[in-house]
Amino acid sequence: MPDGASFTISTPIFYVNDVPHIGHAYTEVAADVLARWHRQRGEDAWLMTGTDEHGQKILRTAVANNTTPKQWADQLVESAWKPLLQTIDIRNDDFVRTTEPRHEHGVAAFIQKLYDAGHIYSGEYEGYYCVACEEYKQLDDLLETEVGDYAGQLLCKIHSRPVEVLKETNYFFRMSAFEQPLLDLYASRPDFVQPSSVRNEIVQFVKQGLEDLSISRSTFDWGVQVPWDTSHVVYVWFDALLNYITANGWNVDDERFAQRWPAVHLVGKDIARFHAVIWPAMLMAAGLEVPRTVFGHGWLLVGGEKMSKSKLTGIAPNQITDVFGSDAFRFYFLSAIAFGQDGSFSWEDLHARYHAELANGFGNLASRVLAMVNRYFDGRVPEAQRDEKIVAIERRVTAEADDAIERFAIHEAIASVWQLVDALNLYITEQEPWALAKDEGKRERLEQVLATAVHGVGTLAVLLNPVVPKATARLWTALGGQGTLDDVDITLADEWTGAGSVTPLDPPLFPRIEEPTV
Ligand code: MSP
Repeated sequence: MPDGASFTISTPIFYVNDVPHIGHAYTEVAADVLARWHRQRGEDAWLMTGTDEHGQKILRTAVANNTTPKQWADQLVESAWKPLLQTIDIRNDDFVRTTEPRHEHGVAAFIQKLYDAGHIYSGEYEGYYCVACEEYKQLDDLLETEVGDYAGQLLCKIHSRPVEVLKETNYFFRMSAFEQPLLDLYASRPDFVQPSSVRNEIVQFVKQGLEDLSISRSTFDWGVQVPWDTSHVVYVWFDALLNYITANGWNVDDERFAQRWPAVHLVGKDIARFHAVIWPAMLMAAGLEVPRTVFGHGWLLVGGEKMSKSKLTGIAPNQITDVFGSDAFRFYFLSAIAFGQDGSFSWEDLHARYHAELANGFGNLASRVLAMVNRYFDGRVPEAQRDEKIVAIERRVTAEADDAIERFAIHEAIASVWQLVDALNLYITEQEPWALAKDEGKRERLEQVLATAVHGVGTLAVLLNPVVPKATARLWTALGGQGTLDDVDITLADEWTGAGSVTPLDPPLFPRIEEPTV
């Protein structure tokens, strides 16, 4: 196993005003696949996720539901957000809630530190505010509509909802002072913001000039109190971004913090600015290291628009997993959409890919190969020289997939592995082991073919474990693989070994689903 290097990866922490949809689940799954991959490299991988519970949006939702924001958050976290992780099989190491004392203490300590260092001052602000984004907006971020319920009003481009005019005396963070340091950061570390489309947008945005940021609110009290002026609470984004360090021992456990920070942040492209501009500026002000990478992924679109609950296009993750299972969910969204670009979801596409790739491509291959070893060799894997052609493909795709993961190109990693699925299916078709089995004189060749095929299927189990962990765990047991799959070094997937005997796969890894769902 490699050297135990640390790899911390985060998802955004989710607003608890509503229940999760597949857009949220998409970020979770991508982060989980990357964390599992790095863990399987032998690294000390750490996946953090959680919930963003302060601010006006949550307060208003709670009031509208005749409850307190804390009760509302407690109930949503337990009934919806934590169960989401089970639904899509996320193996997170931490779940951060911004109402936890460890976080609230950290926020207070951080803002005080910036205040003491002269990065914060009191001032007045008037501007357009989108409560759904929890963000002051520039005119560029708004559109005016002439039709419908909101005719004549200015709408947030992301939520298509009217913005509000807010005027307040607030505390401000001198973010403008970090314009040049940020531009220097983007220039010296071209991989800091990925992919390049998001990077370009961020660089353009900062080049236009940075304003200071209003970081407190005094018109409501649902948040962390500003320590030197308790009539204010900390602005929800300033509070939320800090989860990435407050959960990792900042200011309380230096050793842990050194091990876990800096992290890779996976975020939707709509919140890349918070993570690639405001957040590194905050960290620089505190004299802390900036994140390792901010990766802004694309949106899941339904009918050409960003899928969202507020626009009633939301699909709950369990609508998919109840029919297809969590492995299929994970595989589908990460293989069908180039990570970093937008992608459209449709039930037809999911159904078609499930059958073509998982049921027929991978699942059927595994079932056939194990069934033949059982039939022709009583389950004992023949010890024979493997065919070099397949051995070479195993070696190549193992290296290619790992390289793609390093570049966050999850879809490319899966596509590389699928070259082996396709090569093995073709190999079986061409070699016709069932025909070899009928001829005693071809016994040696049959041994070679099935030794090659079993080994190929085992390599697939190792490489696909981060993506479809339930199926691969079953396959690994059937293959007589040694230890648990999570401990098999993924960078040496082509060198796995088994106990030498296999059992059949029944039922198949991915059973056919007869009825199209919708
Ligand atoms: N609470 C903030 C994040 C704070 S992080 C310090 C937030 N929460 S959110 O619940 O609104 O969104 C969380 C994530 O879900 C964002 O990364 C957003 O891009 C993502 N998605 C929401 N809808 C989506 C799609 N339709 N498609 C893909 N991702 C989507 O923002």
